[in-house]
Amino acid sequence: MKDISLLTPNEAAQELEYLAQELAKADHAYYQKDAPYISDAEYDKLKHRNSDIESKFPYLIRQDSPSKRIGSTIKSGFSKVLHHFPMLSLADVFSITEVEDFVLGIKRFLNTTDNISFYSEPKIDGLSFSARYENGIFVQGATRGDGTTGEDITANLKTIKQLPLKIDNAPKILEIRGEVYMSKNDFLELNKRYELEGKKTFANPRNAAAGSLRQLDPKITAERNLSLFAYTWGEVSERPWSTQEDFFEHLKKWGFPTNPLNTLCHNISELENNFSHLMEIRSSLSYDIDGMVYKVNSINLQERLGFLTRTPRWAVAHKFPAEQAITRINNIRIQVGRTGALTPVADLEPINVGGVIVSHATLHNEDEIKRKDIRIGDTIIVQRAGDVIPQVVEVLTDKRLPDSQEYIFPHICPICGSHAIREEDEAVRRCVGGMSCPAQAIERLIHFVSRDAFDIAGLGDKIIEDFYLEKIIKTPADIFTLENRNQGEEDLFSNNKGLHIERKEGWGKKSVENLFNAINNKRKISLSRFIYALGIRQVGTATSRLLAKEYTSFSNFMNDMINKETGKLVAIDGIGASMATDMVEFFQEPHNITVIKQLLEQITIEDFIDTTNYNTPLAGKTVVFTGTLEQLTRSEAKSKALAAGAKVSGSVSTKTDYVIQGVDAGSKATKAKELGIKIISEDEFINLLT
Ligand code: IVH
Repeated sequence: MKDISLLTPNEAAQELEYLAQELAKADHAYYQKDAPYISDAEYDKLKHRNSDIESKFPYLIRQDSPSKRIGSTIKSGFSKVLHHFPMLSLADVFSITEVEDFVLGIKRFLNTTDNISFYSEPKIDGLSFSARYENGIFVQGATRGDGTTGEDITANLKTIKQLPLKIDNAPKILEIRGEVYMSKNDFLELNKRYELEGKKTFANPRNAAAGSLRQLDPKITAERNLSLFAYTWGEVSERPWSTQEDFFEHLKKWGFPTNPLNTLCHNISELENNFSHLMEIRSSLSYDIDGMVYKVNSINLQERLGFLTRTPRWAVAHKFPAEQAITRINNIRIQVGRTGALTPVADLEPINVGGVIVSHATLHNEDEIKRKDIRIGDTIIVQRAGDVIPQVVEVLTDKRLPDSQEYIFPHICPICGSHAIREEDEAVRRCVGGMSCPAQAIERLIHFVSRDAFDIAGLGDKIIEDFYLEKIIKTPADIFTLENRNQGEEDLFSNNKGLHIERKEGWGKKSVENLFNAINNKRKISLSRFIYALGIRQVGTATSRLLAKEYTSFSNFMNDMINKETGKLVAIDGIGASMATDMVEFFQEPHNITVIKQLLEQITIEDFIDTTNYNTPLAGKTVVFTGTLEQLTRSEAKSKALAAGAKVSGSVSTKTDYVIQGVDAGSKATKAKELGIKIISEDEFINLLT
């Protein structure tokens, strides 16, 4: 996009026309059809571009400028309601600097240097409503509509149980305004039901709420679980509150649901801290919020400040960075993992998603690509949630190029050219090349030195890859002979050229010494870590621990596996036949035995000694961690749980005894609730350890 300062008036006029059209189309899809096709982030971007151009070229502002509209126009079918006191919108800001500007603007307007307090409220991502009470009786409900005229949704609002139909000690005329929303759980349930019934599902809770509230048949509204929060007023015959905070006390007294996270902030840094806190806990809330609303607390000052055309001067919406964005798939690449699995990855046109530049997204597997019909060149919605790999939510098929072609998943490994085979009942296609496939060899080496295995921090992924490609390290055993091989002085007669890693680019004497020290420190390893390091398919840290406990020494384990003796193995709770097959197969592969023998010459595997304390409340219990813990790292928590005799599982099932919930807990906590499994905090967990 061209820098606005470089636009000629002609270009500016053209772009404003284009933006007016695009935004009108987007508004229509969003408000009239409850079916948006561009993300909030893209919409905001267009809107910002529009107002930026308008402020540079005010004489070009169009009659139909998007900045002159508040919201939706009226969907036919509902009778109209005129708002005597308009339902306004809020100006959006996206950074703390803009919040500072907002506060400065207020002080300048009031010509004061006095401190100003703000009431800070989560910005509920729903649909605004106005409820009118006359003599304490609910008489009329309305949507915002275009801000001046809304739709009459009296019957629909009445179906929401949280809305009081009669209130005591209220002003003669009282309009209470707020947001109707659908909780994330109710949204998921509704969509699940609709999917089963073959109906079109909703894109997000907000659209589900809007679609449910604006039903001509209120019976349908009643079937959907809608909730609400009250947060402001419209027309009132008297106003017995003097601050925003005080107003909320009245709301509570009258029986309106108010958001428990609303809070009074005395300065900008309190606003900022509160903003960060909410951004952190946002995903653990049962409803969607898309930012914070700051309102001058004193009503007196609010009245002095008054309104701009469409927004109050005394309030602002501080939006969270968007977590979805629209971009293009430049390429679909196939990665080959340690076990040969072919994983498709989308290379994206880099895009800012919620403050992070995203340039790749996982496409999961062959079936996922087919199901969503994802193609190279497609315009897509990408989503980033917490620390998971970004995902493609949806393809915008109407933006697809005419020459686009369906993506054909390769049946040949793109790295080594071996066949890639998909077993029946398996979601993944695998390269059959084994260790002859460089991708698998490199991934196996990376796994071998990873944190839960040999934990050699000096050997990062890039170094492993370089060393493999330069044939310096081909197998895990080569890691431990590296120092010896590196030492030789150049000697033409014995043909000893030495490796001289220190002469390679990016290396020096000191860093090479550090690397060898790091390697030498790991010549002793616990049995469970060693088993895990081998990288046998399906054998993760938990299984490795079970194996170590059962077999106590590596030779016991290896002998049984070589002899295909699986009796002991399948008797272990948590190890099934398919895992046993993978383990036996691993030890039938001559290459693997050679590497293990070479390794045993270099390292010592410590026999397993059981140090578990079985006298704790957690002994024998199965626990699952979810969300981010605050006092312990995940690995610490896991090892403490194991040392206290617990089993640690990665997923919630009926066998789970406790789910330990950190911040930003996701679907596991939801599942636990569904199954009625006890959810405990990190503190409670720590108490159960001894
Ligand atoms: S106050 C004159 N408070 O955000 C002030 N609005 O972009 C009117 N919203 O139309 C709004 N949570 O639909 C206010 N705590 C809150 C809110 C909130 C969500 C919505 C509301 C409004 C829009 C403004």
